[in-house]
Amino acid sequence: MDHSPDTQIAINRDTVVEVHDGEAIIVNMSTFDYIELDRVGTAMWNALLDGGTLNAALDTLLARFDTDRATLETDLSEFIGQLAAVGLIDAEPIAPRNDATPLAPRSAIDLYLDLLIRTVGGFTIRDDARNRRGVFPYHVGNRVQGRDMPGEAMSMIGLIRLNNVRALAERALTDGVAGDFVETGVWRGGTTILMRGILAAHQITDRSVWVVDSFEGLPAPDVEQFPLDAMWPAEQGYLKVSLDDVRANFDSLQLLDDQVVFLKGWFSETLPTAPIEQIALLRLDGDLYESTMDTLNNLYAKVSPGGYVIIDDYNLESCRVAVDEFREKRAIASPLQVIDWAGVWWQVPTA
Ligand SMILES: C[S@@+](CC[C@H](N)C(=O)[O-])C[C@H]1O[C@@H](n2cnc3c(N)ncnc32)[C@H](O)[C@@H]1O
Repeated sequence: MDHSPDTQIAINRDTVVEVHDGEAIIVNMSTFDYIELDRVGTAMWNALLDGGTLNAALDTLLARFDTDRATLETDLSEFIGQLAAVGLIDAEPIAPRNDATPLAPRSAIDLYLDLLIRTVGGFTIRDDARNRRGVFPYHVGNRVQGRDMPGEAMSMIGLIRLNNVRALAERALTDGVAGDFVETGVWRGGTTILMRGILAAHQITDRSVWVVDSFEGLPAPDVEQFPLDAMWPAEQGYLKVSLDDVRANFDSLQLLDDQVVFLKGWFSETLPTAPIEQIALLRLDGDLYESTMDTLNNLYAKVSPGGYVIIDDYNLESCRVAVDEFREKRAIASPLQVIDWAGVWWQVPTA
């Protein structure tokens, strides 16, 4: 698509930008579409947003890069088309945004929940990542997408899936879907802390958040019964977080009270008799075939009509096969909605 030199650019109200080391990831928080930019792309993005028009961006970029105006104009026009296509900007004749433009007014609930998400997600501390080979500098793209192993963050799932939890939890509240919020597989607790924060922000006192985990890491894979779990190592030190540590994480954000219920033990032992009555939002993050199947077998029937089921690990074969088998067995026709490279969700039918 061609854009005239005077095309005015404004950032979409649902767009969130994270920049680190000169590279940006730009996410549309209502659709979870995103674009990752290298340094040149990030410079183009900044020039467009700062200048507010294609023409102003051209001037900025020509002063910086060794290229000719016509080539750059074609590139920028194409770039604007890509950004607009995923709803990251409005390329319309509307007021340009610059640094002097005040932030759009946002409600206290929005501000609180955004801050909570950024806190549990490790964005406020620019959390470095770890794996067995060492410590890696914070990489915003990986953290936004939850592709890393954060060193300090209370949740590993990243900005996109954290926002998905918020979106579906608030939808359930708005629509009056009965029941509690549950996560099976909580690690350091960050996602369940967000769930509790959502209830607090909306002053909901008659729903609980169930924090379900062994608090000892993954179970040893039962390869005979569940061959797909052979991909999981028997010992996962990184995934082992004690109940005391998770409780302390809740407490650090002043979100620990009677509306938080901890269910400690292996899913196969705790879930069959769990005193959970009704569920509005069920989030599965147990990685293994066995853990996923145990959760679905024991809790799916408790999800209210209109409630939501979120699967964190649909990218992993062990989890995906369990979900597919369960949906087939129960003839669940509700379409799977894609959140990002890993997560999916579906809504339990209302009738
Ligand atoms: C990937 S982590 C969860 C990440 C977390 N949802 C977050 O927001 O960061 C997986 C968790 O599932 C737990 N888990 C997996 N299978 C389990 C099972 N069968 N019984 C109990 N806990 C299990 C592990 O202890 C671990 O804490």
